[in-house]
Amino acid sequence: MKEQLVSAFVERFDARPTVVTRAPGRLEILGNHTDYNEGVVLSVAVDRAAFVAAGAVPGGTCCIRDIMDGSERTFSLDSLDSPTSGDWANYVKGVVVELQKRGIEIPAFEAVFGSTVPMSAGMSSSAALEISVAYALGELAGADLPWQEWAKVGQGAENNYVGAKTGLLDQFSSIKGKAGQLVFSDFRTLEVENVPIPEGTALVVANSMVKHTLTNEYNDRRESCEDAVASLKPRMPDITALRDVSRADLERHREALDPVSYQRALHVVGENERVMAGISALEDNKLAAFGDLMFDSQNSSTQHFENSCDELDTLVAIGKTLPGAIGARLSGGGFGGITVHLVEADKAEPYSEALADVYSKQTGLESEAMICQPADGANTLFKA
Ligand code: GLA
Repeated sequence: MKEQLVSAFVERFDARPTVVTRAPGRLEILGNHTDYNEGVVLSVAVDRAAFVAAGAVPGGTCCIRDIMDGSERTFSLDSLDSPTSGDWANYVKGVVVELQKRGIEIPAFEAVFGSTVPMSAGMSSSAALEISVAYALGELAGADLPWQEWAKVGQGAENNYVGAKTGLLDQFSSIKGKAGQLVFSDFRTLEVENVPIPEGTALVVANSMVKHTLTNEYNDRRESCEDAVASLKPRMPDITALRDVSRADLERHREALDPVSYQRALHVVGENERVMAGISALEDNKLAAFGDLMFDSQNSSTQHFENSCDELDTLVAIGKTLPGAIGARLSGGGFGGITVHLVEADKAEPYSEALADVYSKQTGLESEAMICQPADGANTLFKA
């Protein structure tokens, strides 16, 4: 991809790029919608990434080209205040705005990008784009920020520019991934640790081919979580987020909660518990127990958080019946997109083929299933 990008850059701009960056997509393994509730998540950066090649140019006009479909956007550095609904360039412009907010002077630039992360599927194609753009522009500007701040630049582009009130999971995973390792993130302390992925396992990802539009449903779920905290606060004055709430607290104060907010909170509280239980299971090498936590997570999404859908439920149900299955669940925001399956490594090929095959027979939809490897986090591949 790097060579492909460099030639595309040379062909389009008649110059060589001065920087090439890469940022991977991610899979969420356990801990759904916990990040913006100051909770915990186990995720993994994968061997599919967005790549950016860029160079600074004089003046104030920027040009960026998507080498996958040849579309191109030109914009001025001093008129970035209006996002265009549904446009990929929002992620680029949003990053520029966030960097400018932090006092970083971004030069005008020419850039090309490409990505091997499936778009809008739940593998964080947008975070991969944001972080690869942020790193590239950061290199052009000579900016140096703590890693958490790079993540917040990406999140800021989504929250403030695109209007999706997402947490920091996608950016944390894209930045802190490590080959062969999971990423355990704590969204209260904003610290991460890498946890080895169990030996002899593989990650299979299946695309339901149902696309999600995250913004409305996602923001609605987030509001329910905030509503639950607001309703509990008079009875539990010390809490600031669902992170501070246990299952027993929820039951004790159930009548104070709106029934829908209670269900949403139950999912988040349960997910935090499952992440911690998952880490213990991994430490004790209890793979089946870890897999069951993934299945429990899916059930909770279906029943309590209502961010699954028939297609995702079907993929998980099929996965459960296949040889080599350990655990499976939806990954990311939900409402379509992908499921992630933890599978015995030597069965991963036939598992992924059977999964796609049975899914298309049952639903009439062509699914794509692929095996993903845990990969290193975002980096600069080249700097002149
Ligand atoms: C999306 C968001 C993340 C996170 C997940 C759900 O991927 O971008 O911040 O909230 O959904 O866990």
